[in-house]
Amino acid sequence: MQKEKILVIGASGQIGVELTLALRNIYGNSQVIASDLREENPLLAGTGPYVSLDVMNKEMLHVQVIRQNITQIYLLAAMLSATGEKNPHLAWHLNMQGLLNVLDIAREEKLSKVYWPSSIAVFGPTSPRRLCPQHTVIEPTTVYGISKYAGEFWCNYYHKRYGVDVRSLRYPGLISYKSLPGGGTTDYAVEIYQEALLHGKYNCYLSSDTYLPMMYMPDALRATLELMEAPADAITIRTSYNVAGMSFSPAEIGASIQKHLPDFDLQYKPDYRQTIADSWPQSIDDSVARNDWGWQPAYDIDRMTVDMLNNHPENKGRRFQ
Ligand code: NAD
Ligand code: SER
Repeated sequence: MQKEKILVIGASGQIGVELTLALRNIYGNSQVIASDLREENPLLAGTGPYVSLDVMNKEMLHVQVIRQNITQIYLLAAMLSATGEKNPHLAWHLNMQGLLNVLDIAREEKLSKVYWPSSIAVFGPTSPRRLCPQHTVIEPTTVYGISKYAGEFWCNYYHKRYGVDVRSLRYPGLISYKSLPGGGTTDYAVEIYQEALLHGKYNCYLSSDTYLPMMYMPDALRATLELMEAPADAITIRTSYNVAGMSFSPAEIGASIQKHLPDFDLQYKPDYRQTIADSWPQSIDDSVARNDWGWQPAYDIDRMTVDMLNNHPENKGRRFQ
C-alpha cells in the first residue's frame, strides 16, 4: 500500500498550525508538507517540510503535488466572514477558485482523500435558530457563507461525478491559544482570553446575549481526524457535516473567565460583526455526524476556560483549576 503523503494548504493559520502538527504526529514529520502564502509559522519551524505556495496558482500547485508525490490535501486557505464582508469579490474568488483548483488536481492525480472545511456560516436568518439540523433551509447572507455553501455542492459534485473522496465539516467558531485567528466573527472568543490575561478587561464587538456555536480546538482537530479516518461507506454526507461542541454568549464566557479572574472587566460595543452573528444559528444539531462516524465532543465551556488560561502564552506562570 502506498504511504500517505499529505499537503496542508494554509498551514500557517489558526487551524493549519495545529492540524499540521497533529498530522505529523500520526503520519511522520516528513510525510506532511506545510504550505502557505505567508511565511512558515514559528510553531512549525523545524517540525517538517514547508513550501511557499499560492493555492490560486493552479500550475504551481499541480507541480508540487506531482513533485512531492502528494496523496492527500487538506485545504485550509480561505477568507473568513468578517474580512470577507470587507472584500466580497476577493473572498469569493479565493474561497471558490482555491477549492476548484484542489478538486481538479485531486481528480487528475487520483488523490486518495481531500479535506476542506465548511462553516456554520452556511446558515442564514431563515434557518432554525436553535439546534439547527443537517438538512434545513439554508439561505446565507454573507459572502463567506455563500462561498462555503457553493463549495459544499462542488465537493458533492466531484465526489458523485468523479469519485473524489472529499470530506468536510461545518466548523463552529474555533477557540485556541497557539495561532491567532484570521478575521472571523467568532474571533472575540479567542481575543477575550488574551485580553483577560494581559489587561484584565475586554471590549466585546458582539452584544452580551449573542449565542453562537463554538468548539475548542482539540475537539475540532479530533473531529477532523476522525472524519478523515472513517471508512468511506460510513460517510453519508458529501456536502459537509454539522458538528457541535458548545454554545455560549459573550456574557457566559466572561462569567466562565471571572471564576478564575474575578476582577475581569467585560464591556460591549457591537460593530458590523453583530449583523453577521445575528444571521447565524445559536446552536447546531450534529446527530448525523454522531450516527455516521461516532462524533462526540469532549470540552464544555468551563473545561475549555481552565485549559485556555493555563496554556495561553500570556499566562505568565499562573495555575488555574
Ligand atoms: P486563517 O485565516 O487563520 O488561515 C488561513 C491561512 O490560509 C492563512 O495562513 C493564510 O495566509 C493562508 N492563505 C490565504 N490565502 C492563501 C493562498 N492564496 N494560498 C495559500 N495560502 C493562503 O483561517 P483558519 O481559521 O485557520 O481557517 C481555516 C479553514 O477553516 C477555512 O476554510 C475557514 O473558512 C474554516 N473555518 C474556520 C473557522 C474558525 O473559527 N477558525 C470556523 C469555520 C470554518
Ligand atoms: N469562525 C468563522 C467566522 O467567524 C466561522 O466560520 O468566520
